[in-house]
Amino acid sequence: INLDALTYAGNAASLADIERQFGGSRYFFEHGDICDRALVVSLFEKYEIDTVVHFAAESHVDRSILGPEAFVKTNVMGTFTLLDAARAAWKTADGALRQDVLFHHISTDEVYGSLGATGYFTETTPYDPRSPYSASKASSDHLAMAYAHTYGLPVTLSNCSNNYGPYQFPEKLIPLMILNMLEGKPLPVYGDGKNIRDWVYVEDHNNAVWAIMQKSVSGEKWNIGGENEWENITLLQSLIDIVSEKAKLDPEKVRGTITYVTDRPGHDRRYAIDCGKLKRELGWKQGVSFAEGLERTVDWYLGNTAWVEGIRSGEYQSWIKQNYGMR
Ligand code: TYD
Repeated sequence: INLDALTYAGNAASLADIERQFGGSRYFFEHGDICDRALVVSLFEKYEIDTVVHFAAESHVDRSILGPEAFVKTNVMGTFTLLDAARAAWKTADGALRQDVLFHHISTDEVYGSLGATGYFTETTPYDPRSPYSASKASSDHLAMAYAHTYGLPVTLSNCSNNYGPYQFPEKLIPLMILNMLEGKPLPVYGDGKNIRDWVYVEDHNNAVWAIMQKSVSGEKWNIGGENEWENITLLQSLIDIVSEKAKLDPEKVRGTITYVTDRPGHDRRYAIDCGKLKRELGWKQGVSFAEGLERTVDWYLGNTAWVEGIRSGEYQSWIKQNYGMR
């Protein structure tokens, strides 16, 4: 059961294959907002839901700087609404909570703040969110853990590093750069380009979430990462090589479109995840190397121009024009 508000970054076309294969039997789409308590309550009842995986969120840092309210609404109030509806739905006759159920909350490594040149975020690193986005996710993490601690709601929590792969909305670095290269547009690098991110392929993230859901006890939190740190500018140079080769572009010409732009306010310098706990205790590991993941991602964007066209229209376009005239 997929509850999705289909806001600007949502796209029903991304799940067309699943809908075709399993629609009405193993897959049910529900259009709606996680902040809509009446709807959420009715879905728990209608489908007798016993497991929630809470991926729904506003997730783009730049948008959170320009308009933080949507982040507080969806990420904080929406998470609260889902948690509280789960608590109501999973109450037994004697007032206790069912323990054969699970609420898995998806979060980000950005709740831990920013690292210097060394060190890693572990599950015990103190929270230090620094953007409206990460502050809203930190708040939702605290609510999820509080529901486990206070009410005994079975909750697990994961904090993942930067994701990449097919279907990612082109506001995030990798798909934005791929599509700008293909369209001959400038490649906007924030600040000095030396901020570091730890990139994990989307399937590896999902495999980790699945392992946690199957094996973790309630109240545990898990870091998920790629162990794959890159300065933005170095990543961009590799991406230019891959895209140029596959799309038959002149890499030197593409390199010439790199444009250093004003830095993001409060731009976190480095994120790096220690995912040792997940590897040791649940036996998870990354399955896709960065070289392989980037190739798959570039191939996907080259092969799915209809999908790209679809999301390049409508609200997203006007928002982008309004806020980032150059793109
Ligand atoms: P992003 O994909 O927005 O993820 P996050 O901010 O959650 O890490 O950005 C990844 C990095 O790339 C970040 O350091 C900001 C930088 N960046 C650019 O330099 N240019 C861009 O156009 C974008 C979208 C991001």
